[in-house]
Amino acid sequence: MNKVLITGGAGFIGTHAADYYLKNGSEVTVFDDFSRKGTHENVSWLKEQHKGKKLTILEGDIRTVGVLDRVIRRQDLVAHLAAQVAVTTSVKNPREDFEINALGTFNLLESVRKNSPETVVLYASTNKVYGEMGNIKIGKRESGYFYEDYPHGIGEKQNLDFHSPYGCSKGAAEQYIHDYSRIYELRTIVFRQSCIYGTRQFGIEDQGWVSWFTIASILNKPMTIYGDGCQVRDVLFVSDLVAAYDLAFKNVNRVNGQIYNVGGGPDNSLSILSLLKILESKLGEKIDLSYSDWRPGDQKVYVSDISKIGKDLGWKPKVNIDEGLAQLIDWTNSNKILVNSVLG
Ligand SMILES: NC(=O)c1ccc[n+]([C@@H]2O[C@H](COP(=O)([O-])OP(=O)(O)OC[C@H]3O[C@@H](n4cnc5c(N)ncnc54)[C@H](O)[C@@H]3O)[C@@H](O)[C@H]2O)c1
Repeated sequence: MNKVLITGGAGFIGTHAADYYLKNGSEVTVFDDFSRKGTHENVSWLKEQHKGKKLTILEGDIRTVGVLDRVIRRQDLVAHLAAQVAVTTSVKNPREDFEINALGTFNLLESVRKNSPETVVLYASTNKVYGEMGNIKIGKRESGYFYEDYPHGIGEKQNLDFHSPYGCSKGAAEQYIHDYSRIYELRTIVFRQSCIYGTRQFGIEDQGWVSWFTIASILNKPMTIYGDGCQVRDVLFVSDLVAAYDLAFKNVNRVNGQIYNVGGGPDNSLSILSLLKILESKLGEKIDLSYSDWRPGDQKVYVSDISKIGKDLGWKPKVNIDEGLAQLIDWTNSNKILVNSVLG
């Protein structure tokens, strides 16, 4: 039986990771400060789903030095997901963003190095580490922006160009994670994730756009598009991400020290306006919108090249946009009261 610690385990991706590992018989510890709305509800759901299983909930702040020193000793895997996750919030409060994302990750690494160097560390980084990629030619067509010279998307060799405090704090954190595998021989894997979406994601305007537009359409909340709505992203359903976490963990002897772009790839890419069109057709109603200026650090297009993780781990997304959205719509429709009470 594996022992798995998930920092940020009461958040969106963390809850799905905890659910996955509990289902496969692992002993799971969720560590979270419960700062994100919806986290208490996520943990109640996990407890309800997994009565009698080995689930421990630890409330704590990743910024506290040594907070994980004891619990880390028993772990085979730590999936480090705890983070300040919104670019907009990072611009308003860069110190807090730095302390949670960069310093918090450093604290975790030091706990592992000093107390449990055998524990595998898997880090949820972001495509934001590549910044705006101003040197890459971008075209525009009806379906949205696209790379003129990168039909397979952006690979891991793309220059790092941290943009926004969030990009800087996550980028610093992933470089520490990566370097601890070289300098201290820790076993680490970094995933540069693109947009992840799915059930139990209480998306807000500032973060989790697929979930936010879906929830706002169903609950008739006002929606603003920042920019022209032709921004394109590759999107990945959360169960495919968690499957990739587990594959990386199981194959850590081969992929130790690696960094992977993980997303939906070119086959699962769409613009905001295309998403809204699909939602209109699935929900059978017209969606009202307003527009505002572009937000800082917002890439016109970002699509991951996922061939490296495909080659190394035989991983590829299984849930396409149509199926993923259907699941998200079903979940939102069945949980309107919950979603409304969490998002207000
Ligand atoms: N969702 C995405 O599209 C996406 C894309 C790229 C990267 N990521 C990364 O994946 C990870 C998980 O993202 P998510 O979408 O599940 O976000 P989330 O906000 O749902 O989860 C983050 C969790 O961290 C917790 N947290 C925040 N500050 C903390 C602190 N100081 N100490 C302890 N816990 C704290 C929050 O309460 C929350 O439960 C994050 O590291 C994020 O940067 C997410």
